[in-house]
Amino acid sequence: MRFNSFFLFLSCSGVLIAILSLSQPLWQPAVKADAAPFSAPDPIARGKYLVATAGCNDCHTPGFMQMGTKVPESEWLKGVPVGWQGPWGTTYGSNLRQHLAAFPEAEVWIRMVRSREGLPPMPWASLHAMTDGDLTALHAYIRSLPVTGSVMPPALPPGTAPATPYMVMEPVMPGPPKAVSTEQEIPLQK
Ligand code: HEC
Repeated sequence: MRFNSFFLFLSCSGVLIAILSLSQPLWQPAVKADAAPFSAPDPIARGKYLVATAGCNDCHTPGFMQMGTKVPESEWLKGVPVGWQGPWGTTYGSNLRQHLAAFPEAEVWIRMVRSREGLPPMPWASLHAMTDGDLTALHAYIRSLPVTGSVMPPALPPGTAPATPYMVMEPVMPGPPKAVSTEQEIPLQK
C-alpha cells in the first residue's frame, strides 16, 4: 500500500512537472525585449530593424563589410561603387535611397520587387520571401532617410570591362598553396 501511494505521488508530480514545463512559455514573453522592433507598430522602426538584421547594409552601405555598425546610420544604404563580377556580368549594390526616391507608393515598389528576377549576389529570394508588411516597413524606413549619395553604375553584361574596382566571384579549385610574393615587402625592408 505504502509503495502504491509512493508511486502514485511520483507519477502525479511527474504530470505536474510536465504541465508546468508545457505552460511555461505562457508566463514568459514570447519575444526577447531587444527583438521588440520585429513587431513594432511603427513601420519605420520595423524597417530599420529589418535592414539591420537582414544584412542589407553589407552590400548597400559603403564600408559596412569592413567596419560593420561603426558606420553611422547617416551613411546607410548609399550604395557601394565596387562591382560584383560573375557569370551574370557585373552588378553594384545600389544606392537604395536614390532607388526608393523613384517609388513614392509602397504598393508599386512591392509589385516591382515581387516581379523582379534580379541578378546575384542580391538575395532576391529573401526579399521575395518577405511579407507585404515587411516590404512596406522597408519602404517606409528607406524613404525616411535623406536622398543623398550618387546613383551606382548600372549592371554590365558578361564580357564588358567595368570602369570601377570589382570583386570576382568564381570558384577556385583546391591545389598546392601559392607562393606569396614578397616583392612589396623588400623595398620596405631596405
Ligand atoms: C550580397 C550583397 C547584397 C545584399 C546582402 C543585399 N543586396 Fe540588394 N542588391 C545587391 C546587388 C548587387 C544589386 C543589383 C542587383 C541587380 O541588378 O539585380 C542589388 C539590388 C537591390 C535592389 C534594386 C535596386 C535598383 O537600383 O534597382 C533593391 C531594392 C535591393 N537590392 C534591396 C535590398 C535589401 C532591402 C536588402 C536587405 C534585405 C538587400 N538588398 C541586400 C546586393 C545585395
